[in-house]
Amino acid sequence: MAKLSMKPAAKAETSVAGALQHVLKDTYALYLLTHNYHWNVEGPKFVSLHTLFEQQYTELFAAIDEIAERIRALDAYALPNHYDEILQLVGTLSNPLNKERNKDLVADRMIANLIALHERVVSSAQKAKHLADELSDEESQDLAIARIQVHQKALWMLRSIVK
Ligand SMILES: [Fe+2]
Repeated sequence: MAKLSMKPAAKAETSVAGALQHVLKDTYALYLLTHNYHWNVEGPKFVSLHTLFEQQYTELFAAIDEIAERIRALDAYALPNHYDEILQLVGTLSNPLNKERNKDLVADRMIANLIALHERVVSSAQKAKHLADELSDEESQDLAIARIQVHQKALWMLRSIVK
């Protein structure tokens, strides 16, 4: 499966709220994509993927709210001006619905894109976790750890489908 390259975050964050903004942006992009693939997946794996994507976007939607409200609890605004960045992130991925005609390949491309974004969220959540640890913000650290666990489980499931 092709490895997808995505630009890393531009600069190191110095605040936990700033680090969580990256987690929130990445999670939002992943939510959008997972919900879109829930609607548009086709082919022999339809039922299992349609169902799995629904479970995942439902969890992600709840997580977005939790991450955003943690940012507000840290006295920062949640995504005050990041809409373009979220759409750009989704736009860096190849669109499976325009690329291949074979339905199996479309589903595999969807899974590859989701894996790339889950990996990205794990990376941004790990940065938030380390910064929260350094700054003794245990609540944010707990949230980051919980998010890493969810995304690592999702990665295991998605990778198992295409093995
Ligand atoms: Fe649905």
